[in-house]
Amino acid sequence: MAASWKIRIAAMFATTLAVAALALGARCMSLTLPRCSVDTLWNGGPALDVPYAQTRPEVIAKMLAMAGVGRDDYVLDLGTGDGRILIAAARDRGARGLGVDIDPVLIDQARADARATGVGDRVAFRTQDLFETPLADADVVTMFLLPEVNLRLRPRLLAELEPGARIVSHVFDMGDWRPDATGRAGGARVHGWIVPARIAGRWRLREASGRTAELRLTQQFQEVAGSVIVGEAARPIGQVELTGGRFRFTADTGAGPRPYQGVVRGDAIKGTAPDSSGVERSWQATRIE
Ligand SMILES: C[S@@+](CC[C@H](N)C(=O)[O-])C[C@H]1O[C@@H](n2cnc3c(N)ncnc32)[C@H](O)[C@@H]1O
Repeated sequence: MAASWKIRIAAMFATTLAVAALALGARCMSLTLPRCSVDTLWNGGPALDVPYAQTRPEVIAKMLAMAGVGRDDYVLDLGTGDGRILIAAARDRGARGLGVDIDPVLIDQARADARATGVGDRVAFRTQDLFETPLADADVVTMFLLPEVNLRLRPRLLAELEPGARIVSHVFDMGDWRPDATGRAGGARVHGWIVPARIAGRWRLREASGRTAELRLTQQFQEVAGSVIVGEAARPIGQVELTGGRFRFTADTGAGPRPYQGVVRGDAIKGTAPDSSGVERSWQATRIE
């Protein structure tokens, strides 16, 4: 065969490969990630918001450790793929949970792997769109999605999960919601968040001594600032920490600056602060607005 024909055939072959790769890439939304399920690639499977890629075991171990997953936890694995994160949570940490994925072939695989691993009674897998999955029951949410998908989920994670619920994400963050922890495993980044209580607003604070003040709080996720109003005077509060529902700050309500700690439950905060002789006394606050 003449050399020019060989070059033409090679060029046609290369073009066909490139077109096929582009088509597959569009289907799976990325050329860089290793694979989609066969169904998604060839059989007109579901449209994906995130292409299929697998989290490595060392990254899974880091995610579960960062979230402190334990026996009492119900883990919701969004975009579960072959279920490897949830299966590890049940196998290594005794958790229960639910994995959802839009790709039914991957869900079948996850069920089979869970049974083979001996955790079929602790975990369930469902073919479901993650955007239609209720979140409220989860103690821990695990995900390996995409930045824009994380951001779309963010308002629901904040509104539906209980304060104190943990979220861990392989690689991607959640925009200006600063992670409470970031770590690395096997060259990959892992981020963790603790869902903060909704604490912004005005609160009527009453101390055991009978002293009262108004607490005015602003909040950007877990970052809280504010002041106590006593009579006409507004004094900024300091050393403010909100971790889930646990709230700490220092304030001067008239007897000098003191450390307050409490737990937020809906429209009430209950806690203790030391009196002038250092004895812990109770205080509580109720939401005014
Ligand atoms: C990057 S993979 C992660 C798989 C697995 N969690 C892991 O870490 O190995 C993302 C998964 O999300 C699934 N997915 C994409 N869009 C989805 C949607 N709207 N609802 C549920 N799952 C979706 C894909 O099928 C894929 O399995």
